[in-house]
Amino acid sequence: MPEDVSESAGRRMLITGAAGGVGTFLRTGLAALGWQLRCLDLRMPDDPGGAEWIVGDISDAATLDAAMAGIDVVIHLAAIPIEDHFDAILHANIDGTYRVFDAAARAGVPRFLFASSNHAVGYYERSSLGNGRIPADARTRPDTFYGVSKVFGEAIGSFYHDRHGLQVACVRIGACYAEPKTRRMLDTWFSPGDAVRLFHTLATTPDLGYEIVYGVSANRTAWGNLDSARRLGYEPQDDSSAFADRFANQPIDPDDPEVRYLGGDFTTATPGPR
Ligand SMILES: NC(=O)c1ccc[n+]([C@@H]2O[C@H](COP(=O)([O-])OP(=O)(O)OC[C@H]3O[C@@H](n4cnc5c(N)ncnc54)[C@H](O)[C@@H]3O)[C@@H](O)[C@H]2O)c1
Repeated sequence: MPEDVSESAGRRMLITGAAGGVGTFLRTGLAALGWQLRCLDLRMPDDPGGAEWIVGDISDAATLDAAMAGIDVVIHLAAIPIEDHFDAILHANIDGTYRVFDAAARAGVPRFLFASSNHAVGYYERSSLGNGRIPADARTRPDTFYGVSKVFGEAIGSFYHDRHGLQVACVRIGACYAEPKTRRMLDTWFSPGDAVRLFHTLATTPDLGYEIVYGVSANRTAWGNLDSARRLGYEPQDDSSAFADRFANQPIDPDDPEVRYLGGDFTTATPGPR
């Protein structure tokens, strides 16, 4: 079903981290759905599109105040997207996320969509799930300092919802790439088209309170339960099965962290560049 653009036409959205991989998919797709975009990043991308750009750091209060003015919806993506030393995660993902939430609340922005991650629940083992999928309200089991930072983002989102009435959705993104790159990504793949569909749905669905949803496509073997996302109106249109043949000849070792845990090799990742 085509997205309803009537809810987005002319409305203003801020995307932090907009020059990155997920940001590039989202700003391209959401602009096509009528959103007026303001993009904030440490750098300009090669293809800035028609959006308004602010080059700056989410740790800078004046930059954030300017970025929030007149905004209807924030999508907060800016972060270190992999494991790193705790001090680096603390600065970019924990302190930075607090500052973006706080600036949004001070500016009276009504709605905030936070890029969480499957690594907030990465220590769940497939064998513990049977044929089930992890509900969005299950206990968090972060697999890295990075995963811990995403649990923090979900928690501070809950606090800003309860204390300040901010409408918040936390999206536990799986693997948002043009195509699955590994066998594990057959489970976690979040197609760019479905990413645009889900974030547009969360930006426009009426009566959003506080929600945690999984950001994955309709993969046959997905780990995350899509009930909360579907309840809000998300209808994924892609699934990873078209790519399954690429990985069919790879042996499956149940003790391999890539197979055993939702978080894959993040469960053994050490801080620093991977
Ligand atoms: N790519 C995925 O599949 C995936 C999966 C789970 C979660 N996520 C989350 O989605 C978000 C985007 O991920 P990505 O893969 O696009 O990462 P990315 O590294 O491609 O993009 C992140 C962007 O944030 C910017 N940034 C970092 N620190 C900043 C700061 N202090 N101020 C301003 N901008 C800053 C970077 O310049 C970069 O352009 C991250 O929060 C990540 O944790 C991504």
